[in-house]
Amino acid sequence: MKEVFDYIDSNYQRYLDELKEFLRIPSISTLPEHSKDMQRAAEFVAEKLKQAGMNKVEIFQTEGHPLVYAEWLGAPGKPTVLVYGHYDVQPVDPIDLWETPPFEPTIKGDNIFARGATDDKGQMYVHIKSVEAYFKAFGSLPLNVKFIIEGEEEIGSSNLISFLKNNVELLKADAVLISDTSLWDVGVPTITYGLRGLTYMEVEVIGPNRDLHSGTYGGAVPNPINILAEIIAKLKDKDGRITITGFYKDVLKLTKEERENFKALKFSEKEFAKSIGIKKSVGEKGYSFLERIWGRPTLDCNGIVGGFTGQGAKTVIPSKASAKISMRLVPNQDPIKIKKLFTKYIKQIAPDYVKVNVTSIHGGYPVLAPLDHKATKAASRAMSKAFGKKTIFMREGGSIPIVVDFANRLKACPVLMGLGLDSENLHSPNEHFNLNHFKLGIKSSVYFLDEFSNV
Ligand code: BES
Ligand code: MN
Ligand code: MN
Repeated sequence: MKEVFDYIDSNYQRYLDELKEFLRIPSISTLPEHSKDMQRAAEFVAEKLKQAGMNKVEIFQTEGHPLVYAEWLGAPGKPTVLVYGHYDVQPVDPIDLWETPPFEPTIKGDNIFARGATDDKGQMYVHIKSVEAYFKAFGSLPLNVKFIIEGEEEIGSSNLISFLKNNVELLKADAVLISDTSLWDVGVPTITYGLRGLTYMEVEVIGPNRDLHSGTYGGAVPNPINILAEIIAKLKDKDGRITITGFYKDVLKLTKEERENFKALKFSEKEFAKSIGIKKSVGEKGYSFLERIWGRPTLDCNGIVGGFTGQGAKTVIPSKASAKISMRLVPNQDPIKIKKLFTKYIKQIAPDYVKVNVTSIHGGYPVLAPLDHKATKAASRAMSKAFGKKTIFMREGGSIPIVVDFANRLKACPVLMGLGLDSENLHSPNEHFNLNHFKLGIKSSVYFLDEFSNV
């Protein structure tokens, strides 16, 4: 592999300059005013895939943001790996809290700061650069490689889900390699084998037909904000369990072995609490911190609006109030079933003298990837070689909605070779990516191509 690694070393500055160029594109998928930037980001990815040596690079337009596809199938008889990643990023608000502007990538110490640095542009770019290095060093790849890079992961991947349905042959692969999760810790090679699913809902409570003076009417008229707060408060009991009828019915229990493995990771709850400025963690009774976030479902209010939210005071009883509420799910919960249970329960507990609208925003299925698959083992060896340490296995509390579809439709093994850190502020101000992990990631990816070609 020396030839490949020498190429990476001598081209590393250019790799960084390209990553910066990529990070300068404000490809925020959820905001319609950025649709041109989505196109530009897709074109950037396609261009770099071509330059890397991939043939048949194509941009597929969708009803939403474009998909970028590339393939190199010059190794008949060898396995095929599909690399997945996303070029879309989260919005930047609250903008005032950024120390450097979100779309002016800035290197400070070991880290590059920008929106999308770790989620997922930096992590995804790793694989484009590893393929480039392999091509430049050897003129070919040791196995067949396809790429599918989307621009809608942060908004639920619905167009990729339908594209996949109609293009199973095109995307067919033995394994899907994904770098869009976290390492357990700095410098610790990590494979994630579980992702939580998601059901994301909105609840709107409507009271009087207009805003009212809170002195003239207060005390005699139902206040939608108070009622919404009561509804939210009823969704969990004092033991941190979700009260929705039937919610836990399909939950797959953590195995004894998993619970022991989580314990062996020696997670310090105290240090963690300190790092995010809380006094202690909370959650479902009877479960440890890691069990709660990796292996148990949960429910959180993600946003709430209603009434007067400007500066100062306005004495008003609002006509309506609404909340965004999401539930993280674990195997074998079904987001569609959970959506129905949630809707039914909210209607049941809401008082009949207000109107309540419950709508669904998006969702995704949970994932449990096989640990004994050849691809998982190859990835584990690859990361160990690159990082010089034993690879550890963990689960993840976040979600990547398309992964289940890859597993089900392509019959491909998901390999979650995460390179980020939970502390890298994804979805939050001052997002960054550790550049040591960028480089180790490129090496891991190179080793993976090699390891997986020989199974
Ligand atoms: N890369 C993340 C998933 C993730 C989060 C991995 C935290 C590791 C740690 C992904 O981009 C993401 O944010 N997913 C969303 C999915 C949703 C918008 C459908 C999530 O988990 O909220
Ligand atoms: Mn991501
Ligand atoms: Mn994300």
